[in-house]
Amino acid sequence: MADTRKTLAQAIAERRATPSFDGTPIPAEDLKQILDAGLHAPSGYNMQPWRFVVVQSPEQRKRLRAASYNQAKVEEASAVIVACGDADGWRKDVDLMLQLGREGGMPESYAAQASTSVSNFLSGFSREQMHGWLNKHVMIALTHMMLMAEVMGYDTAPMEGFEQDKVHEVLRLPMSYWVVALLGIGHLKGPDKYNGGRFEISHTVFSEEFGKPLK
Ligand SMILES: Cc1cc2nc3c(=O)[nH]c(=O)nc-3n(C[C@H](O)[C@H](O)[C@H](O)COP(=O)(O)O)c2cc1C
Repeated sequence: MADTRKTLAQAIAERRATPSFDGTPIPAEDLKQILDAGLHAPSGYNMQPWRFVVVQSPEQRKRLRAASYNQAKVEEASAVIVACGDADGWRKDVDLMLQLGREGGMPESYAAQASTSVSNFLSGFSREQMHGWLNKHVMIALTHMMLMAEVMGYDTAPMEGFEQDKVHEVLRLPMSYWVVALLGIGHLKGPDKYNGGRFEISHTVFSEEFGKPLK
C-alpha cells in the first residue's frame, strides 16, 4: 500500500484530475481495496448495476488509449478502471440481491414485493432512461473508488473522453453494457494540474427552495 494515507477531507480538498502518470504498477491488494470501496456504494434497490473492467497490461492500455481520443494518461496510468453499467443486470440479479438482503436482515414483507417493484420500475425504461439510471449508479461507485485511491495516496483521473463503440470493441463488452467513464489511477508524473477553482456556494446551493440563499 502507498505509504501516505490522507483523511477523506484532505483527499477531497487536495485531489486534482491528474494530467500525467509515471506508470509504476499498483500492488494488487491496493487495487482490490480501491475496487472494494466502489462495490460498497449505494444503489437503487441495491441492484448494483455497475460493472468494472480493470485494464493494466501495456498492450491493452495502448488499445484503450486509441479508443479514448489518444489521451496519453490512459496509457500512462498504472491501472485504468473502465466503469460500465449493465442494462440487463437487474434481470438476472434480483434473486441474488434478495438473498444477500435476507442474510443481512431484509424484512420478508419487503422481499416479497421487491422483485415485482424492480421489474415494474426498470422494464419500462427507454434506452435513454436506462442510460441515465446506469450513469448515476456507476458514477457513485466510481467516486467511491476515486476517493479511496486518493486517501491511500494515489493520484486519479476521471475521464469521459472516449468513444463508446471503440471501448466496447477493445474490451469485448456485451451489448447490454454501457460505458460511463474511465478512472486512471497511479502516481503523478511532473507538475500537477492547476486548481480550476469552484463557484461560490451561493451560485450552486439554495435553501428550502430555488433561489433562496443558504444562510
Ligand atoms: C466525469 C468526468 C469526466 C472527465 N473527463 C476528462 C477527460 O476525458 N479528460 C481529461 O483530461 N479530464 C477529464 N475530466 C477532468 C476534469 O476536467 C476536471 O475534473 C475539472 O477540470 C476540475 O479539475 P479538478 O478535478 O482538478 O478539480 C473529467 C472529469 C469528470 C468528473
